[in-house]
Amino acid sequence: MNSKVYIETFGCQMNVADTERAATGLRQAGYEMTSTAEAADIVLLNTCSVRERAERKVFRRIGEIRNHAKRAARKKPVIGVMGCVAQLEGSAIFASAPAVDLVIGTRATDRIPSLIERVREGEATVIDLEDRQESEVWDVSPAERRSPYVAFVPIIEGCNKFCSFCIVPYSRGREKSRSAREIVAEVHGLRSLGYKEAQLIGQNVNSYRPQSQEGLEPYSGATSFSRLLRAVADTGMQRIKFTTSFPRDFHPDIVSALEEYPNLCDWVHLPVQSGSDRILKAMRRGHNSEDYLRRVESIKNSRRRLSLTSDIIVGFPGETEEDFEKTMQLVRNCEYDALYIFKYSKRAGTPAAMMDDALPEADKTRRFMALEELQSSVQDRIYNSYVGKTVSVLVERQSARSTEDMTGHSTCHKVVNFRANETRPGEIVDVVISHAKPNSLYGTLMS
Ligand code: 5AD
Ligand code: SF4
Repeated sequence: MNSKVYIETFGCQMNVADTERAATGLRQAGYEMTSTAEAADIVLLNTCSVRERAERKVFRRIGEIRNHAKRAARKKPVIGVMGCVAQLEGSAIFASAPAVDLVIGTRATDRIPSLIERVREGEATVIDLEDRQESEVWDVSPAERRSPYVAFVPIIEGCNKFCSFCIVPYSRGREKSRSAREIVAEVHGLRSLGYKEAQLIGQNVNSYRPQSQEGLEPYSGATSFSRLLRAVADTGMQRIKFTTSFPRDFHPDIVSALEEYPNLCDWVHLPVQSGSDRILKAMRRGHNSEDYLRRVESIKNSRRRLSLTSDIIVGFPGETEEDFEKTMQLVRNCEYDALYIFKYSKRAGTPAAMMDDALPEADKTRRFMALEELQSSVQDRIYNSYVGKTVSVLVERQSARSTEDMTGHSTCHKVVNFRANETRPGEIVDVVISHAKPNSLYGTLMS
């Protein structure tokens, strides 16, 4: 009987994409994939370290898996840690969690089958934090994709920005762009398999800079990324989304591309992190609030109505009430369609961790709540402005609230629920919005 592997994924879409790749390689090597830790001979935790809470969760999970095996009086599964915690903590993981047999760095995804083999041959601890191989394989088999309709397509890995609060440049290494030819071929393949949406993903998609322009020659564009958008749109894939965009590299030509190709979706995720120039400087973001607002203006002035979303960190070291008020003002001005707010979390090894003017937790919480309240009133207005309008929705599944309703995302990346009326997952339908909830829209099928 084949050995069974279970991969549990934490964190961002890049980890989801890595899990899909890892599963593809494992299946090719003869392993069977399973959907629970309890049924597995090998459990891999694909981890996130962007904030402290995410990291703590991993160690809790390792304990649970080991204890479950003990209680069930069965052999402890082989336990492997992959992803960002693996890359950052390395062999220290074996000391803090002795149940772990295997540590797989963020650039070792292709080598997982041979690493598992080494554990099974009796090596007590196996670790691979080495770089990627030149011959790296990106293929993902459709069977391993999380959804049969929406596919994640990594276009760039890693990050060169070194924002002072962020661990990602250390856990994911330097930016490395995939070849355009390979990306376009993957999207063509997805389309012929019946996928309806491709999400181009990367820590900073618009910093995309491939080694050659091969595959992009026929397309005009001010940057490689805007050329890539046009090339991917030309595959005819019905919906194309991309995330995350980095403000400093956000060229207005991206907006032009969105205006030219209706299948490029009307949504831009452009994190600002703070509205205070003093804090942005301490964060080493490489832009001030004015630079950011210029980008926002190009998005808001588009011929298409584009949704705009952002991330903000409250309670960065040294953030005063005045700094925070600037963030509130920026949020009022930008009228985001959605905002992801995070309390600053100190990450060892980052420059911000050396700053000694940390804020009390209570201040962070207060600011978090004030910002959340402001955003909810902004969002209320925006969501209500959709009432009476028609949005295009990719049907995903039955709604959790009602068996008579289906749910999906609009092109502008809002959750839309609607009366099902025989629609099936994977269909794209037009929905007339009848009312707005805080984080979702509700409507009926256009007849
Ligand atoms: N503390 C809090 N939030 C963080 N993020 C990244 N690093 C930290 C940190 N140390 C947030 C940023 C980023 C999002 C993915 O996570 O807002 O855009
Ligand atoms: Fe982190 Fe900044 Fe890179 Fe985003 S751009 S991953 S916040 S260092």
